[in-house]
Amino acid sequence: MNAYLADLFGLHGRTAVVTGGSSGIGRGIATALASAGAATVIVARGADRIEETVSTLKAGGCRVAGVVGDLSTRDGIRAAAEDAAGPFGEPDILVNSAGINIRPPFAEITEADWDATMTVNALAPFLLGQRFAPGMAERGYGRLIHISSQQAHRAFVGSGVYGASKGAVESLMRSEAEAWGGTGVTSNSLVPGFVLTPLNARLQQDTAKVEALAARTMIGRNGLPEDFAAAAVFLAGAGSGYVTGHSLFIDGGLSVH
Ligand SMILES: NC(=O)c1ccc[n+]([C@@H]2O[C@H](COP(=O)([O-])OP(=O)(O)OC[C@H]3O[C@@H](n4cnc5c(N)ncnc54)[C@H](OP(=O)(O)O)[C@@H]3O)[C@@H](O)[C@H]2O)c1
Repeated sequence: MNAYLADLFGLHGRTAVVTGGSSGIGRGIATALASAGAATVIVARGADRIEETVSTLKAGGCRVAGVVGDLSTRDGIRAAAEDAAGPFGEPDILVNSAGINIRPPFAEITEADWDATMTVNALAPFLLGQRFAPGMAERGYGRLIHISSQQAHRAFVGSGVYGASKGAVESLMRSEAEAWGGTGVTSNSLVPGFVLTPLNARLQQDTAKVEALAARTMIGRNGLPEDFAAAAVFLAGAGSGYVTGHSLFIDGGLSVH
């Protein structure tokens, strides 16, 4: 990379934590940040997928480490935050990609479903931001990156409590952008369309639905984890310092209708 591009987009000397970095969109983003030079820590529950991702990225010459952590409880979130700062120190970049979508029919959603969804999808991004952003502000550089959803903006394929959690995430982003404004810390969201990942494996069995979703985009196909790479590097890098509180749709134009 030439020096001009390295100043705008390069991540050498930065540290990143990517929750959910062992699968799907989070894995795509962890790959992108690590390949752009960030020492990157992946946080998820399953050790096998973490190890597989870490060894693939290491084989590609990246600095990367894995942390097993469970973001489904307050104690788990706090423990994961401490452990994530272990391998490379306090992060400059936090990507909140860990998420769940349990999709019960709306009338059958229980309080436990609400708690489970809100904890992983909204409380973890909040508590991790509270844990890491003050240090980022002190050091004068920080990037909080959330993964939202179409369902933060419109009801769509059974949004349910998941949609409510993603609405919370985008409001959290705006609050963080306001709170940390002027400190060098930004907060932004990437908004996927329908992305082919294990999260929606059950929905993918309905090929007619998958094709209908692809046809609703302007580009004519559903999303892939690698579609998030360039946007994540941009939002993580120095060049996006004047972008905050923004929701960037990476959806092939799905939301334009
Ligand atoms: N795929 C889409 O179409 C789509 C659309 C809009 C938004 N999104 C959002 O994009 C993000 C990533 O989704 P994806 O499609 O890439 O999903 P995915 O392939 O299922 O990956 C989810 C990741 O989160 C981790 N995770 C789940 N529960 C966790 C917990 N309690 N503690 C720690 N880690 C946990 C998973 O690892 P373990 O299971 O090993 O913990 C995995 O690494 C999510 O926030 C999702 O809501 C996805």
